[in-house]
Amino acid sequence: MRIDIITVLPELLESPLNHSIMKRAKTKGLLEVNLIQLRDFTTDKHNTVDDYQYGGGAGMVMMCEPIAKCIEQLKSERHYDEIIYMTPDGETLTQKNLNGFSLLKNIIILCGHYKGIDERIRQLYITKEISIGDYVLSGGELAAAILVDGIGRLLPGVLNDETSALTDSFQDNLLSPPVYTRPPVFNGLAVPEILLSGHELKIQEWRYEQAIERTKTRRPDLLKD
Ligand code: ADE
Repeated sequence: MRIDIITVLPELLESPLNHSIMKRAKTKGLLEVNLIQLRDFTTDKHNTVDDYQYGGGAGMVMMCEPIAKCIEQLKSERHYDEIIYMTPDGETLTQKNLNGFSLLKNIIILCGHYKGIDERIRQLYITKEISIGDYVLSGGELAAAILVDGIGRLLPGVLNDETSALTDSFQDNLLSPPVYTRPPVFNGLAVPEILLSGHELKIQEWRYEQAIERTKTRRPDLLKD
């Protein structure tokens, strides 16, 4: 899978995308992430990407021209399955979205700044608008890092059996059951006996019950679907 990220702050994305599982996905050739500096698509000597908003009001708006030029160039090189804009007024990201995105071949992610991007870019180019939650960040980069991490770990071959995504919270709309490792007793608290029994079927049943219980108490909204 190829992900092209358009940003004015590529430095913000370099570290999160070059460690741990993201690094493994790239080294294995399963994920290619390109950071594209939006300022490279400006024509003035100050490399301006934003301007005052029509109608007045606080906050600058990211201009059409550099974004359009950048997207047009990328689109002339290959087909993109989605052009995603990270924005607090987008659709809230869920595991279901991530599962869908992980099946795509080429995507563009556009990171906004300031008051956001000119509405006409949204109308002309953007195919999906994604928010990572009901709060406002100073730019779309950290949100994009979350999106790419969530997608990358789902690509076949990235995770090994030990870290398999199939048992994650939210796959099946359930939270994960509690987990334990050694020692068997810590500060007077023992690991549930069933987990030490070696009885695989019973362990699976226990985990499922615990997942239901945890979801009921913490996120009853998930059980409605
Ligand atoms: N940019 C600023 N805030 C954001 C959010 N909550 N989700 C996605 N992109 C954003």
